[in-house]
Amino acid sequence: MKDVYILAIESSCDETSMSIIKNGSEEIATVVLSQMDIHATFGGVVPEVASRHHIENVTMVLEQVLTEAHMTMEEITAIAITYGPGLIGSLLVGVQAAKTLAYIYDKPLVPVHHIAGHIYANNLVEPLQFPLIALVVSGGHTDLIYMKEDYSFERIGGTLDDAVGEAYDKAARVMGLPYPGGPRVDKLATEGEDTYSLPLPLDDDSYNFSFSGLKSAVINLAHNEKQRGHEIRQADLATSFQNRVVEILTKKTLHALKAYHVKNLIVAGGVAANKGLRSALETMCEENHVHLCVPPIKYCTDNAAMIGAAGYFAYKRGRRGDLTLSAKATDPLH
Ligand code: KG4
Ligand code: ZN
Repeated sequence: MKDVYILAIESSCDETSMSIIKNGSEEIATVVLSQMDIHATFGGVVPEVASRHHIENVTMVLEQVLTEAHMTMEEITAIAITYGPGLIGSLLVGVQAAKTLAYIYDKPLVPVHHIAGHIYANNLVEPLQFPLIALVVSGGHTDLIYMKEDYSFERIGGTLDDAVGEAYDKAARVMGLPYPGGPRVDKLATEGEDTYSLPLPLDDDSYNFSFSGLKSAVINLAHNEKQRGHEIRQADLATSFQNRVVEILTKKTLHALKAYHVKNLIVAGGVAANKGLRSALETMCEENHVHLCVPPIKYCTDNAAMIGAAGYFAYKRGRRGDLTLSAKATDPLH
């Protein structure tokens, strides 16, 4: 069978990224141009600033990825593009670039859902084994997804309010840590003790999550300590917060694995980089004889390699976009 080379483009948030992926699993080249330092000065991603930088970066990133891959556009089979969900101004830059390239070089255009990308980041590690449960934990999503086969997604539960990454970033801000807070809380959590009493959020039999209560508990605790003239013990608060988050994510994931009689678990999204979560899931999977796949850190946060992996399976399934393809800020995974 002829090899399929996907040129993937990802610009849904503050990374301008392009990648060339062979047959859905082999990374030929990836370029990720992060705007993190620019947005850190604002304490979070500023959408208008992000889209302007995508415009400035997009042609440079394309040239670089082709150079690193030693390939020309003529050798590309199809172009995969993150059409949503994400920041609309950022998405539009990538979608317009993908449509332009598809038109000029007469290549099929393959729309990819951002979360499908996070899930298929695992295919760059090993072929996905079905049926599986995917725990998606990012800055915008916290979902439990059941996959019976390739490119079939059934959302069985998810957050009712804040996404887990969002909760990390807000908790970090309360602790006085700079953006992005998630990795910093994760690091601090290895240095502290679980001494602060925080609630285990939405501890019920559903597959849903709720992190706004936990976030409010951290804000109230910090406020009360300040009023009493007490210093917050940053590392202890980070440990206490992370322990509650990890405990509820692990508990509900195990519940889903058992209810769906599934022996394969994959983790996806930026928070999949979290050391505490990775270690708790490893233990849980070992104890329950579940096969666990977690992407390497570089494939956890936003990148185009994951879009190229998902794009291959979308391409195989005949998913195509045309020049009317539009970016979507919100869109359920289906
Ligand atoms: O998947 P991602 O790169 O972007 C979205 O699609 O949202 O996820 C970014 C999120 C941010 O909230 C960031 O703080 C969080 O992932 N994150 C972490 C860690 N690394 C990134 N959260 C906790 N621990 C980490 N090690
Ligand atoms: Zn993402």
